Amino acid sequence: MGISPGKPPAASAVEQNVYKVFPNDLNSEYTVFGGLVMALCDRTALIVAERHSGQTCVTAAVDSLNFVGPARAGETLIVKAAVNRAWTSSMEIGVRVAAENSHTGESRHVVSAYLTFVAVDRDGRPTPVPAVLPETDAEQRRYDGAQRRRDARIAARS
Ligand SMILES: CC(C)(COP(=O)(O)OP(=O)(O)OC[C@H]1O[C@@H](n2cnc3c(N)ncnc32)[C@H](O)[C@@H]1OP(=O)(O)O)[C@@H](O)C(=O)NCCC(=O)NCCS
Repeated sequence: MGISPGKPPAASAVEQNVYKVFPNDLNSEYTVFGGLVMALCDRTALIVAERHSGQTCVTAAVDSLNFVGPARAGETLIVKAAVNRAWTSSMEIGVRVAAENSHTGESRHVVSAYLTFVAVDRDGRPTPVPAVLPETDAEQRRYDGAQRRRDARIAARS
């Protein structure tokens, strides 16, 4: 069976992966341990990569992960992720995390990240993935930005 010629980001997006913060998730400053948020971003982005590609995927790179503010005990982390662009076997997934006070519904942006996943076959070799077909202006902007980020990633690696 051949791969799909292309899929829109909405077909694989994760709209809301929720994680309730408890005291054992905190660092010595009593804010949420950054490694936990990184793992949440990685897991959520992996789901998007696997939905988009229909294949096993591995994290190849996390080239940008910005903590823009702390999250605290009792808040709910809400993780959103979508595929921005796909090339031959790799995909850039954008992730945004917000911290919500679930009593009031107020939420703050806490993390933004871009991760690159590669789809692999049973032998762990890169395998082709469908193209991304942007449908909205925002998706088109992310699609264009993803190419610039890939060019920068490749330049940095060489
Ligand atoms: C990711 C991996 C499969 C790439 O395999 P490889 O033989 O180096 O692949 P290639 O050089 O042929 O590149 C394949 C694709 O991966 C991309 N890629 C490879 N290394 C990359 C990196 N560090 N950052 C971003 N993209 C990368 C290439 O740009 C290429 O993309 P394209 O097919 O869309 O053009 C391999 O390096 C690997 O298995 N790494 C370990 C992954 C892992 O264990 N992750 C953590 C646990 S999930």
